[in-house]
Amino acid sequence: MPGSNELVALAGFAAPEAPALSADIERVAAAAAFRHMVVPGGHAMSVAMTNCGALGWVTRRTGYRYTATDPETGKAWPAMPARFAELAARAAAAAGFGGFAPDACLINRYEPGARMGLHQDRDEADFRQPIVSVSLGLPATFLWGGPRPRDPVRRIRLGHGDVVVWGGASRLFFHGVAPLARGEHPLTGAFRFNLTLRMAG
Ligand code: SIN
Ligand code: FE2
Repeated sequence: MPGSNELVALAGFAAPEAPALSADIERVAAAAAFRHMVVPGGHAMSVAMTNCGALGWVTRRTGYRYTATDPETGKAWPAMPARFAELAARAAAAAGFGGFAPDACLINRYEPGARMGLHQDRDEADFRQPIVSVSLGLPATFLWGGPRPRDPVRRIRLGHGDVVVWGGASRLFFHGVAPLARGEHPLTGAFRFNLTLRMAG
């Protein structure tokens, strides 16, 4: 619920449309390829990323930001598939956040061993808007912390089709993903995909 400290977990929420979401990811990646971006510290992320929507999240040596164009191609990011925006709006509403209209979708691709360290999502303009996060393919362990980097972390299993939403009092909570275990998924093969939908601008 908005205002609570909780992560809202919607188990299997996206499962019925997972094959269509996966096909949409392939179309986006054909126009804006997955790449291992470099963080300001200088190393390449283990998670491969791309974006769709009016804005895309990028990290470079100079910092994190949202851009309207893909720095690799100079072209606008691929349009956000209507299915992504509709799913995100439904999930946000189910978690108590009405009127969610994402303008940015970061697509994360995890291979075995890939991980995401604890971080806050704080490059968006309006923190009143929640984050909607969709998991596809291989299961992962999501790390859900608190407002401070060293707060205790809950380990939450996110499987194929699961959606989590956070916002309100927990909007800036630290979170991450433990190293992905090896596996084979009928839809996504040796990968996990995550869609992170945001109102960024
Ligand atoms: C993220 O925090 O950007 C990724 C979360 C996830 O992959 O589940
Ligand atoms: Fe994040």
